[in-house]
Amino acid sequence: MARRAREPDAFVRAVELLRDRVPSFEVYPFAIPAIRTLESLALHPQVTFLVGENGSGKSTLIEAIAQAAGFNAEGGSKNFSFATRPESSALKDALRLVRGMRRERDGFFLRAESFYNAATYVDETGASGYGDRSLHAQSHGESFLALANHRFRGDGLYLLDEPEAALSPSRQLSLLKIIDQLVRQRGSQFVIATHSPILMAYPRATIYALGVDGAAPIAYEDTEHFQLTRDFLASPARFFRHLFDADDE
Ligand SMILES: Nc1ncnc2c1ncn2[C@@H]1O[C@H](COP(=O)(O)OP(=O)(O)OP(=O)(O)O)[C@@H](O)[C@H]1O
Ligand SMILES: [Mg+2]
Repeated sequence: MARRAREPDAFVRAVELLRDRVPSFEVYPFAIPAIRTLESLALHPQVTFLVGENGSGKSTLIEAIAQAAGFNAEGGSKNFSFATRPESSALKDALRLVRGMRRERDGFFLRAESFYNAATYVDETGASGYGDRSLHAQSHGESFLALANHRFRGDGLYLLDEPEAALSPSRQLSLLKIIDQLVRQRGSQFVIATHSPILMAYPRATIYALGVDGAAPIAYEDTEHFQLTRDFLASPARFFRHLFDADDE
């Protein structure tokens, strides 16, 4: 199969905060530093990673991008219409997606906390394209990979919040292979919030670190995830001395 000569145009080239639509920068979600300082965030045409500490705003941002792109806030495809949480993000009304020339023909929003609800919806509606076993009859990781294998058809916009939560390290590599095929052979675009030093190693990507100063691009090797994991694995005992024994010395 012929490879694409160059990267295709993104479905969503950038995410802009229309700052004059923000009611107040003092309250959630606009008070989160990564949102308060947001003007325009350019998305990689293939994969954009959002990384940062717990509470840095990754889920808030990816959920608002999903809503602005027409996905159900609770996760799923654009056809999903269940809701378990009444309030919707005020952020989506102040976000503008800068669209590219192409339109996605497929898409999925995996919300970290609501995969269970999405699986229930798939079972109840008999939605097709998810493999032949109920997602509930498979383990968390098996069902997630079944979803990615059967449901992600390509030419799609896929927004994933902490997909690693379900996956062993070797299954994270399986997911990277699925992502690579969807990106390189089937022109897809991903935005992925993650803490996984394995997933964020994917080379055709931009990594944004969300922190107290906002969202800034960062090289893989400069992420705390890479450095801390590398140093920890090189010498767990050295970390344990600091973590556990500091009071005894
Ligand atoms: N409904 C809400 N009302 C007020 N504050 C909220 C609400 N939801 C989240 N927050 C706060 O907004 C901040 C960002 O939360 P968010 O869930 O986006 O973080 P995150 O980067 O996804 O974190 P994690 O890595 O733990 O998933 C946190 O400080 C959180 O406590
Ligand atoms: Mg989160």
